[in-house]
Amino acid sequence: MTEQVRPVARIVAAQHATEGAGFPIRRPFPTAALMDLDPFLMLDEFGPVDWPPGGAKGAPDHPHRGFETVSYILAGEKLHEDSTGKSQLLGPGDVQWMTAGAGIVHSEMPSARIQREGGRSHGFQIWVNLPIADKAATPGYQYLAAERIPLAGSPDGRIEVLVIAGEAFGVRGEIGTRTPVVLQDWTVAPGARARLPLATDHNAAMYVFGGAVNLGVEATTISDGELAILGDGDSVEVAAAADAAAPARLLLLAGRPIAEPVARYGPFVMTTKAELVQAVEDYQSGRMGTIRR
Ligand code: CO
Repeated sequence: MTEQVRPVARIVAAQHATEGAGFPIRRPFPTAALMDLDPFLMLDEFGPVDWPPGGAKGAPDHPHRGFETVSYILAGEKLHEDSTGKSQLLGPGDVQWMTAGAGIVHSEMPSARIQREGGRSHGFQIWVNLPIADKAATPGYQYLAAERIPLAGSPDGRIEVLVIAGEAFGVRGEIGTRTPVVLQDWTVAPGARARLPLATDHNAAMYVFGGAVNLGVEATTISDGELAILGDGDSVEVAAAADAAAPARLLLLAGRPIAEPVARYGPFVMTTKAELVQAVEDYQSGRMGTIRR
């Protein structure tokens, strides 16, 4: 079989919104234009925002059930606390891959230092669905400090890839996923060009969050704030113009579709309406626990 590079099938512009207690985000999905990209349910880029002293906002105590939330910090510090009794301070470059499973209550707040002194916050929150078989999994999380996220390089030396999940240029990420999922942060220098094999049964997209890249053999230009949904093929091709002013940044998201019904209501993602009603009831009656402080 000859190699087939995935073309850009569709371009979706991120929408500006606010989340939690009022922090600014760019959201490629879910929006009216694109509900999800199985197995991905949500992609939010929070910030970059420069908080004044005393002004930083986060997401106080709230529940999740039925899926996974991924936090990837580019700048700033976030304090995670949850109903299983765990807490984790996340700094620049850190990843937390949380399995909400049967249900968890957590809070995601700027660190005490950022709340006191102010400072920059920037990063991603990504929601990954769980198959029915794992929706009642024991809640918990995987934490990877920045130094445990391996760096891969393209053959031409012009692309650096932080491999959170999946594999790039012979380097494998450490995060364990319930279904095959690829999540990588690419820095693409001017003049770069590389081709990376990607499983043909995966949905795949690239979200550009700085500069611009050219994707596929058609060299379709994707710019800051745009999500490119990739079509069928067995590889992706990424290039950057030789005269680009700065390296481009993008997230590669790919995964095998779960292909099961999705019923969602706020922080709960199940397969039927009845399960959503049950989730709300379980949360309101305290069965997802509380955060003890
Ligand atoms: Co949350």
